[in-house]
Amino acid sequence: MRKKFVAGNWKMHTTRQTAVHLAQQIVEAVGQETAVDVAVCPPFPYLLPVREVLAGSRIALGAQNVHPEPQGAFTGEVSPVMLLDCGCQWVIIGHSERRRGLGEAHEFIRRKLVAAVQHGLQAILCIGETKQERDDSQTFAILRAQLQDSVMALTADQLTKVVLAYEPVWAIGTGVNATPVQAQEVHSWVRDWLGQHFGSGVAQRLRILYGGSVNSKNAASLLAQPDVDGVLVGGASLQAMEFITIVQAAKG
Ligand code: 13P
Repeated sequence: MRKKFVAGNWKMHTTRQTAVHLAQQIVEAVGQETAVDVAVCPPFPYLLPVREVLAGSRIALGAQNVHPEPQGAFTGEVSPVMLLDCGCQWVIIGHSERRRGLGEAHEFIRRKLVAAVQHGLQAILCIGETKQERDDSQTFAILRAQLQDSVMALTADQLTKVVLAYEPVWAIGTGVNATPVQAQEVHSWVRDWLGQHFGSGVAQRLRILYGGSVNSKNAASLLAQPDVDGVLVGGASLQAMEFITIVQAAKG
């Protein structure tokens, strides 16, 4: 039985004050939740203040990006070692806002993924197709390429440190979520693909989250799908009540 996982991706939002307040509200409401794994991913500058708020709770801290190298002359970048030093357990890798918006190539994403897990971070690896790609019936070809170029670099053991997030680009920040049927279709395809390459035991244990316009109203029906093991929430994770309701929905 895969435990549901709800993660909030705060993206480039919040201030130090609102980040701390948001974390406080989440801790108060679901900080001792054991039936669902919960993580929040604030912007880099707020990792430490949010970490203080999360201390003693069961809410995990995640970052939104990482560089593959442990240190060096990489202006503006943050290493896996630094993230661990700041108390992060998770890091989001391969988000479409970085793949497509910032031109991150498959190879760079693969290096990040390998480095993150080698250093002991757990990764939320995002994959997903654009509207055009879906319209052109390229969804599975795109997902296959994204998976092949990333998770194939990991051993089955390393893969246990990874959660996948299916985030169709057309659903991110648009208010148009994938329907539960669409999400289930892709998630079950991803699990089959994982089974073919890593064995069915690994595939059955690996969690596949859905992300893209998840909110308190649509979360339950998405989470009710057999292969939807959680959600990666953007906009709705910035409102405490929305996020808390989504966590409650994940309890089933
Ligand atoms: P929204 O929930 O705002 O659509 O964002 C989803 C996302 O990109 C999470 O990583």
